[in-house]
Amino acid sequence: MVAEMTNSNNTAESEAGSTAAAQDEPSRDAVWEMFDKIAPRYDMLNRLLSLRRDVAWRKRMATFLQNRSAVRLLDLATGTGDQILHFMDGGADIASAVGMDMSEQMLAVGRKKMTKRGLQDKVELSCGDAVEVPVDSDAFDATSISFGIRNVVDVSRALGEMRRALKPGGCALILEFSMPENSTLRSVYTFYLRHILPIVGGLISGDMYAYRYLNKTIETFPYGDAFCELMRDAGFENTSATPLTFGVASIYYGEKPGA
Ligand SMILES: C[S@@+](CC[C@H](N)C(=O)[O-])C[C@H]1O[C@@H](n2cnc3c(N)ncnc32)[C@H](O)[C@@H]1O
Repeated sequence: MVAEMTNSNNTAESEAGSTAAAQDEPSRDAVWEMFDKIAPRYDMLNRLLSLRRDVAWRKRMATFLQNRSAVRLLDLATGTGDQILHFMDGGADIASAVGMDMSEQMLAVGRKKMTKRGLQDKVELSCGDAVEVPVDSDAFDATSISFGIRNVVDVSRALGEMRRALKPGGCALILEFSMPENSTLRSVYTFYLRHILPIVGGLISGDMYAYRYLNKTIETFPYGDAFCELMRDAGFENTSATPLTFGVASIYYGEKPGA
């Protein structure tokens, strides 16, 4: 089904493309307000627009925690808490989790999901900004952010916060959309992003802007080794990028030094 392999290659092409497209960058200010509006339909739209690939991607991220036990997890831009649940469903040994987001409506949907699964005592969902996270330093075994880093105003600062919150030796995991390396696939995917996703997403969510914003942020965001470099600049070591489904998404991994 999926061409998944570890890739640490940077793509000069992607960086050049990112710089050119950066002129057209949408504003990240108060982007969570947009998610407040689409919260009730957010999970369903994710499944539909990714053809359920997001479930496999999220569970794949859980495999990066398989050598760690009793993990204390911090999930930033947690939205409806989907990634936390998929860490658990994917077999990660999560002792407790804190999910933070700026959208109260997304968190409200998430709290209902946690209660339905009997996880309300193990998973705390609260309001918090990914660029100024209200948690102690050196407190978590793993920090994560899925489809959220692309939305923050200051990516380096958010990565710095993920590192600060980790215990030495702890790991950060980032799941984010990326662009396929293969030029044919890249053209097909770009067509989907520009012409199909905004219409289908817009019609079902009732928010056309949200899904036009999505395609622009995906096309302009750094990926592959360019993103690993951002992680290294933020103080992570042993970084890696793992492309998923021909590169339409990637998992980034890094460790806080000093274990
Ligand atoms: C695409 S959703 C991803 C939600 C969830 N992580 C998932 O995997 O489904 C992006 C989320 O980022 C949140 N967000 C945007 N900017 C944020 C910030 N500065 N701090 C925290 N959350 C933020 C939005 O409210 C939204 O819930």
